[in-house]
Amino acid sequence: MFLSFLFRVAVFFILIISATAQIAAPRPISISTQIPGQNAILMGAAWYPEQWPESRWEEDLRMMEAADMKVVRVAEFAWSRMEPAEGRYDFDWLERAINLAAKHHIVSVVGTPTATPPAWLTQKYPDTLRVESNGQRVTHGNRAHASPSSPRYRDFCRRIVEQVSMRFGHNPNVVGWQIDNEYGYALMSYDEVTRQQFQDWLKAKYKTLDNLNAHWTTSYWSQTYDNWGEIPIPIGEHNPGLMLDWKHFITYTWTSYQQNQVDVIRKNADRRQFITGNFMGFFDGFDHYPITEPLTFASWDDYVGSGHVDADYNGLSHDLTRGFKRNNFWIMETQPGAVNWSSLNNFLNRGEARAMAWQAIGHGADDVNYWQWRSALNGQEEIHGVLVGSDGTPVPFFNEVSQTAHEFARVESSFRGTAPLSQVALLYSYDSHWAIQFQKHTEKYNDIGLLKSYYRALRQISQSIDVVNAYAPLESYKLVAAPSLNVLPKDLAEHLLEYVRNGGHLVLGPRSGMKDEFNALLPQRQPGYLVDGLGARVEQYYALEKDFPVFGAWGNGLASIWAEQLKSQAPGEQVLLKYGKSNGWLDDQPAVITRAYGKGRITYVGAVLDDNLMKNAAEWMTQTSGITPVLGPVPDGVEVSRRVGPGKQVFVLINYSPDIRRVKLPHSMNLVLDRKQGDAVDLPPYGVAVALDNE
Ligand code: GLA
Repeated sequence: MFLSFLFRVAVFFILIISATAQIAAPRPISISTQIPGQNAILMGAAWYPEQWPESRWEEDLRMMEAADMKVVRVAEFAWSRMEPAEGRYDFDWLERAINLAAKHHIVSVVGTPTATPPAWLTQKYPDTLRVESNGQRVTHGNRAHASPSSPRYRDFCRRIVEQVSMRFGHNPNVVGWQIDNEYGYALMSYDEVTRQQFQDWLKAKYKTLDNLNAHWTTSYWSQTYDNWGEIPIPIGEHNPGLMLDWKHFITYTWTSYQQNQVDVIRKNADRRQFITGNFMGFFDGFDHYPITEPLTFASWDDYVGSGHVDADYNGLSHDLTRGFKRNNFWIMETQPGAVNWSSLNNFLNRGEARAMAWQAIGHGADDVNYWQWRSALNGQEEIHGVLVGSDGTPVPFFNEVSQTAHEFARVESSFRGTAPLSQVALLYSYDSHWAIQFQKHTEKYNDIGLLKSYYRALRQISQSIDVVNAYAPLESYKLVAAPSLNVLPKDLAEHLLEYVRNGGHLVLGPRSGMKDEFNALLPQRQPGYLVDGLGARVEQYYALEKDFPVFGAWGNGLASIWAEQLKSQAPGEQVLLKYGKSNGWLDDQPAVITRAYGKGRITYVGAVLDDNLMKNAAEWMTQTSGITPVLGPVPDGVEVSRRVGPGKQVFVLINYSPDIRRVKLPHSMNLVLDRKQGDAVDLPPYGVAVALDNE
């Protein structure tokens, strides 16, 4: 069964044939997120049996089963129940819970409990507790209180994960593992052990202090280091090279913290059991590309917090997560109406959570789990949203979850073997993000906001976008945009130039090509190693105190927040936008330049553009690159997503506008939620349609 699934995955790829584009066919799609023998798309909840008398479990599971909920995530905070005293393990209760769930046709994901070490552990070994940057050791009683770099703590983690994976690694009802919980929000310990590890890590990276001093330019402000032991953990503002390396060290620490557990699970568990971690969208504590590398697939916890879902930002976050491993993903947790941790814990509107669940599926999620089933009667999250109230009966919100879960179960086969497929990629780089965060130059510069403005404008036309690591293979994309690729070392520039030489269209946004991988300025003007390809460079950059006019091929509009004065350096370039009368320096100077290079094209956009200009820019970019929408025109406020599989494509249409919207389909399709064929669909606010197109 599993082998045949693997075979299907391995042989599955789709060719998009374009007469004009020089770029290669899309990469094969891997769908390790769909569990053999289970529905292709699943719904579930975080369930904490350890918080309830065993006599209650059956009723919880009965309600889940009746609602078509198919997954529980269990045990992720249950260390004190699994190991009530050092070396004394008890997993019988968990086995009974998992088996009872299976009786109700519910599979389990087991969380490793390492976000919450028990009191006996932290009491006896206080060195396992984190030290905050103010020098204070944290006290027991919350979570994420252990130091991820403590060798002793890692040893305890290895032991508990060894025991739990030996017990459940062959349990047929356990489909996978979640390591830790949200990786302690990347919190670090500021103790001597960690500081020394950081110094050792630097030594392994730079080999000599001369090398480190040169890359960090420590001759500045007398920062020169004469021995490794002098190097501090940065607190507050520091040398940008040191600060970036601290981020790399945090990534290394949490990646090796994770690996400590991955190794043990891999040793003890069946290969069919996946290993994932629950990430948090654009959370930037560490670099998500290396940390997700050893996992089967990435998952994320999709919370709105205050207010209501921003479909663009949420879609972008899904696509970011899908891009971590360039694979479908899971929503390991999502908001059951309201949370308890935001400034205003308002409730989602009726229908909004269903729209969100379907949006996740459209963007490549194969499972959506609500956090949580029922609140513990005490504890920090007593008044968080739930599916079942403190009396043990469903809250009104549960009806929406159960309706959506029934829909998932009914139409799941349409999604089997499918994944999103895009012609456009946006590049994301944690190094660039951090480099800009460290030296924003203007409080208003928001690289994620800029990424979102490219995403919104380009997705409205293309209807599908991948968000990938700047170093990812790019040959399958017709258009690649990097809105703020600040850190652009030589090897990355070569990677991008190769893409362009082979026929791709690369669009760079402001602040691109300024720094090397040590966060040092490049000894060239922006965009650094791409100046020759672009045939132009940035003469000077400006943080703007007010908007400046721009005009040209993309129309008239405004540049805000940031503007760069470009200058042509080689023949063949074309100026697409210029600045109008502004600060004297920028008046009549180029703001956007494009140039054919190799078989492709490089475009540099030197300013943050207003929405209308972005729209026109996206039209130009997509037309120039030969990109067509995956479905066709849809009314404003309607989001289209497409997943493609062997011999079929399936569209998810969602209306986020406050009015009813009619979407015309290019031809008659199977409207699987409505159980009918049709070439048009009327969507009420938050309305969802799923259109299956069998080729
Ligand atoms: C996070 C955690 C959960 C829970 C929720 C509450 O995502 O992973 O354990 O605390 O937040 O919203």
